[in-house]
Amino acid sequence: MKERVEVLISAADVDKRVAQMAEEIGRDYAGKEIFMICILKGSVIFMSELAKKLNHEVTFNFMKVSSYGNSTESCGRIKIDMDLDEHIKGKDVLIIEDIVDTGRTLKHLKDLLSLREPASLKLCTLLDKPDRRVADVEADYTGFVIPDDFVVGYGLDYAQRYRNLDYIGVLRFDEE
Ligand code: IMP
Ligand code: MG
Repeated sequence: MKERVEVLISAADVDKRVAQMAEEIGRDYAGKEIFMICILKGSVIFMSELAKKLNHEVTFNFMKVSSYGNSTESCGRIKIDMDLDEHIKGKDVLIIEDIVDTGRTLKHLKDLLSLREPASLKLCTLLDKPDRRVADVEADYTGFVIPDDFVVGYGLDYAQRYRNLDYIGVLRFDEE
């Protein structure tokens, strides 16, 4: 089987949409410092690009979570591999995700972080695959709603590869 990547969203279109999201977020958080939480590793590029376009005070924070198993299907249970190194009580927290698929990751994170009493807690995702939703969760900011295909690029990987593509592509497997 041979892999190939088909362009789904061009680099220019991603860039344009991220700029729009930055503008909207900047307006909503006027006068507030945003405690951004990047969910490693997939959201690294999205958070960086979004933050660069935000004319705003932000802090960078990181968490790593994993769902058990490592195929293209994420399964039920979520494990915190790396937690925040700061308290979020009283802060305006914005979780930055690459993609919401079943929604289990974000649902779990949202429940966990809200117990820590932030002043506010919102979710921002570059991509949303609503067809596959299992958990009851919705992002406050969504870049693109996409069909149920496995995508790579702009931080998203397949077996740790393709993260550095500047566009979003669909991974296809061809018979050789
Ligand atoms: P969820 O818990 O099912 O919403 O899974 C979300 C996580 O699964 C994302 O943060 C990604 O790491 C991974 N994921 C889901 N769909 C894709 C995809 O199409 N490409 C790459 N990673 C994906
Ligand atoms: Mg992820």
